[in-house]
Amino acid sequence: MELRCIECGTTYPGHGVVNRCTCGGLLDVAIAPVPLQHDLFDQRRGTSDRILRSGVWRYRELMPPFPDSAIITKPEGNTNLYRDQRLSDWGGVDIWFKHEGENPTGSFKDRGMTAGISHARWTGAALVACASTGNTSASVAAYAATAGLPAVVFIPEGKISVAKLGQTIAYGPHIIQVRGDFDAAMRMVSAASERFGIYLLNSLNPFRLEGQKAIFFESVQELGWQAPDWVVVPGGNLGNTAALGKAIKEALAAGLINAMPRVAVVQAEGAAPLYHAWRNGFRAYTPVRAATVASAIQIGDPVNYTKARNVLRETEGVVTTVSDSEILASKALIDRVGIGCEPASAAGLAGIRRLVAEGVITPGERVLTYLTGHMLKDTDAIVAWHLQGGGGDAAKTPIVIDEAPDALARVLTDILEHAAL
Ligand code: F0G
Repeated sequence: MELRCIECGTTYPGHGVVNRCTCGGLLDVAIAPVPLQHDLFDQRRGTSDRILRSGVWRYRELMPPFPDSAIITKPEGNTNLYRDQRLSDWGGVDIWFKHEGENPTGSFKDRGMTAGISHARWTGAALVACASTGNTSASVAAYAATAGLPAVVFIPEGKISVAKLGQTIAYGPHIIQVRGDFDAAMRMVSAASERFGIYLLNSLNPFRLEGQKAIFFESVQELGWQAPDWVVVPGGNLGNTAALGKAIKEALAAGLINAMPRVAVVQAEGAAPLYHAWRNGFRAYTPVRAATVASAIQIGDPVNYTKARNVLRETEGVVTTVSDSEILASKALIDRVGIGCEPASAAGLAGIRRLVAEGVITPGERVLTYLTGHMLKDTDAIVAWHLQGGGGDAAKTPIVIDEAPDALARVLTDILEHAAL
């Protein structure tokens, strides 16, 4: 196994620790394509094997070849694929939702983390680290705790949800709060990783992306190995976009799917450097100062920009943006049909609706989107929308009453009348 620079092709041994090529380029894990049969993966479903029951390691032939003893798995994946007619109607097209919030720590990051932490342990890392808007930090902290490795996480002070901060603290890593935004925290952890030899677990780490490929593999397996026409993902640091593109290429090369889906990346309007670059044909890339209610994707200078650009070129991909109010309205709908997700995850549905309205996605096409995080990841956003007036008429507020039969009768009569309408 080796790592290969996506810019200049220089290779590095896979058992070493290197964040970037000496030319500055991002690295990929080079996986030699071999033909694979669907049966191999179908037979593994429902197994109790410690490693193969993971929704990442089920696809072991497409993952880095670590020895069994190095693999730390909780296990992850095996998440639900939902379809709801009300959401398809709202989006204007048939949509499947892969709920990655159903992973062990409540986000898709766990798929990458099992691969990243296993590599860290295999290479003898003494300390692991990341910068995070809250989900990566919770995942790093949980997997480091499982592996018995010390961890240090860098988070932008005051810019991650209370739930994510609490979850991260609880798993026991060292926490450095940076007075600045995610991009500042990312710069600091990258520099610290180089200077102190700390093992970096952000999506700059190519092993993280290997694990995240499994979201696509598991989705198409559940779709009977029929590739959708589109895969739509929210874009922040663009690790997921990079992993998705690699997964599509490898699934095609292995003969697991026979058509290439197009990739659509959805960014929040206030955090859309990829969108601006895509609009100008990738002639110029300019980082932005990011601002959005979807704190998970409040990122102005994504580390995986060049990989995401290549994925968009290779899959005839598109990028769109959605406003904060579109994100929250689409989150409220996903919640209300009983699925639920965190705000950033709902950018996917909001983006689909926009792309259908623009005629980019056409009715009759099959669309897959990833719900990247659990609804309990950001309860502040729910309370602000429903209880503090953000959601207007669509918001639900609790009815407060005394313990009085008359008052209850009035309220229930009203509820029953509305139910009968
Ligand atoms: N959705 C959620 C819920 C996220 O937490 C993130 C990223 C994304 C989408 C964007 O994915 O970075 O691969 O483009 N969260 C990171 C973190 C940055 O630190 O938890 P991406």
